[in-house]
Amino acid sequence: MQHLLSIEELDATTIGHLLADAGRLKAQRGSHETPLQGQTWAMIFTKSSTRTRVSFEVGIRELGGAPMFLSKNDIQLGRGEPIQDTARVLGRMVHGIIIRTFAQDDVVQMSRLSGVPVINALTDDEHPCQILADLLTVQEFLGGWKGKKIAFIGDGFSNMTISWMWAAKHLGFELVVACPADYQPPAAFLKKLEAPNITITQDPVTAASGAHVINTDVWLSMGQEDQQDKERAFGPFQVNAALLSHAAVGHIVLHCLPAYRGKEITEEVLEKHAGVIFQQAENRLHAQKAILVAVSR
Ligand code: CP
Ligand code: NVA
Repeated sequence: MQHLLSIEELDATTIGHLLADAGRLKAQRGSHETPLQGQTWAMIFTKSSTRTRVSFEVGIRELGGAPMFLSKNDIQLGRGEPIQDTARVLGRMVHGIIIRTFAQDDVVQMSRLSGVPVINALTDDEHPCQILADLLTVQEFLGGWKGKKIAFIGDGFSNMTISWMWAAKHLGFELVVACPADYQPPAAFLKKLEAPNITITQDPVTAASGAHVINTDVWLSMGQEDQQDKERAFGPFQVNAALLSHAAVGHIVLHCLPAYRGKEITEEVLEKHAGVIFQQAENRLHAQKAILVAVSR
């Protein structure tokens, strides 16, 4: 694997290898190999981050390398220098590039022009690092996804939902996405996805009924903060105790965080499921170390 640009372009075998390696690196934390010895990895972030930034900085160090955090305000990219020029400059100096930004095409350009491994740390289209951590968490708590129903309640066409839909396509588990009518995945996307194991509904109870995993995310993703109209459509899609009463016995709740209590999830539900949700956050570290090892081979 040369880059990690999306879940879309992965396959079940690669996902399986990454998760197995994440589990191994987690078990061997403090005593595993350090393949990034002598390497410097640039981390370009044009959006805020707590989990992704910290887990990559710690992960790179634990693998023997040095992270270099570059917010858009620190580099000329923020003043309009093209991504193509940034890619060609960084690629001559660093050993790998991690990028969080808006357009997926910027990540693709970076991978084509830099000549070094590139990892997508979130775009408007995908959040592949998060999904790998989420899948690791499902494995840890439920032993895997075979025969399990996974529900996503919220924005039907955010980076998280899109990545979950590609994961379901590759891995074959039942995924039901419940979202407001105006925030469904477009027909063209569903046609491209062509996955009979994925259902879209406007009824959160249908999605939650018998589900083993209930997953949600913010209603307004980064860059959409001023879209208050959008938020108004999501009231019935809150993950709360009433909705969870329909889920399977022993269900888990996932949230990629940050969470807005009282909006997409209640305080009560978040705290009741904090053991899973914060293990999910920790798993970012282990999953990303596996990605770093894979792309730097
Ligand atoms: N889940 C996630 O990517 O969190 P951050 O935005 O804090 O990195
Ligand atoms: N959909 C969210 C994910 C945050 C980790 C966003 O893009 O803001």
